[in-house]
Amino acid sequence: MGTDPRTGAAPDPTGPLSRVDYSERIPNNVDLAGDRRLQRALESWQPKFLDWWRQLGPALPTKDVYLRTAVAVGRDGWAHFEHVPMEEYRWGIFLAERDPDRKVNFGKHKGEPAWQEVPGEHRADLMRLIVVQGDTEPASVEQQRVLGNTAPSIYDLRNLFQVNVEEGRHLWAMVYLLHAYFGREGREEAEQLLKRNSGDLDAPRILGAFNEQTTDWLQFFMFTYFTDRDGKYQLGTLKESAFDPLARTCQFMLKEEAHHMFVGTTGVQRVLERTAELMSEHGTADILPHGGIPLAVIQRYLNFQFSVSMDLFGSERSTNAGNYFTSGLKGRWMETRRKDDHVLLEDTRELRYVEDGRITTTTVPLLSALNLDLRDEYVADCSHGVRRWNQALADAGLSERLYLPHEGFNRKVGVYAGHHVTPDGEVVDEAAWRARADEWLPTDADREQVASLMIPEYEYGRFAGWIAPPKTGINDQPVEFDYVHLADEGLL
Ligand SMILES: [Fe+2]
Ligand SMILES: [Fe+2]
Repeated sequence: MGTDPRTGAAPDPTGPLSRVDYSERIPNNVDLAGDRRLQRALESWQPKFLDWWRQLGPALPTKDVYLRTAVAVGRDGWAHFEHVPMEEYRWGIFLAERDPDRKVNFGKHKGEPAWQEVPGEHRADLMRLIVVQGDTEPASVEQQRVLGNTAPSIYDLRNLFQVNVEEGRHLWAMVYLLHAYFGREGREEAEQLLKRNSGDLDAPRILGAFNEQTTDWLQFFMFTYFTDRDGKYQLGTLKESAFDPLARTCQFMLKEEAHHMFVGTTGVQRVLERTAELMSEHGTADILPHGGIPLAVIQRYLNFQFSVSMDLFGSERSTNAGNYFTSGLKGRWMETRRKDDHVLLEDTRELRYVEDGRITTTTVPLLSALNLDLRDEYVADCSHGVRRWNQALADAGLSERLYLPHEGFNRKVGVYAGHHVTPDGEVVDEAAWRARADEWLPTDADREQVASLMIPEYEYGRFAGWIAPPKTGINDQPVEFDYVHLADEGLL
């Protein structure tokens, strides 16, 4: 076996199974050609996906984009980079390698072989989990549709499009499972995934945060930091699933997801670097007249995106979450590294909630609080990023710091819904909340001001004035590389 004629990539040492077959209309490593019915069903969904992409995918016309495509699923060398017209991106179906000895690692089926088929008793629940996950993927593409028109650089534009094509691929990942394992109902759900749209009043996306508009690039960076990170944790639980095809799909999606969070972490970081620079230079926090985003506005954007992402974890107390765990459908984050019996019938934990106007705790069965278990892991992860961002402020000699708001702040789901909790964790009444909400959440004026800075910068190697350039480019290319060729390049 020589190099791949299409990609020039070296053969994958992990073997032929992991290599992606690009001679097919739908690239895949699941031997789609061996199942004609499934192949035909997916091939009839493909044009609908492409229609959706053309209508609700990136609005900015481009000639081609320097994108990575999966060529194998092995540990190394799974990604290949080249300039491709976006609508010719090879969306396909890539599952991580199958481990023939894999067992169920938790719940009542613990120790039994992992499932290669869907058990009848868990069919409805599994399908629901896959549909909810699948619904978020195209939603974010829709939310980010017009951002290309205001990109701060060609480098950032390329990253946006990379995230977009991969979220499209994540939709493929879920649609494959629906088609392959859930029959006619699964195919119907796959159709619906293209019919619900972000913010659509009649047919909105399933989860709240995925119906919010991504108004500007600061919000995009907050979204990829906080909301893609929710995705990481949800995929982390599904990667433990007893249903092996789901576990293997999510395992590979997580590899792609890492770049999305990189975009968020470094994006916010670069905004802060520029903000800090302007604050030092002009000796004021009011840097808007100097073309920067004030720290207070960045904090309000953070408060918003963190709180809506917290809602994505669902209610702290959830019988469903416990049942999913016990049945083996959904594990905990890093399930196999946990030092307990992985059945949890006897375990308890503390749960915070609001009673008589203050936050108090109670002890509940751990099985009833698994959404909270996952959310706590997420919050700990989020706080690492904030620490890193604060380092950028410290390095610039500033005393101001960013912080994560209290878990109860601005919540619409779970034990804090219906209460007003300040970012410091104080429970206040409606009047007090209303008097100060503008200090804590982005106002219309904030969004307008940020929008006023969002002037596109399409010259290679140049960056808009509100954001610092990155330290390095993508895939060892220089920062000023021609990552994107716009459709109207001749006019620039
Ligand atoms: Fe995704
Ligand atoms: Fe993502």
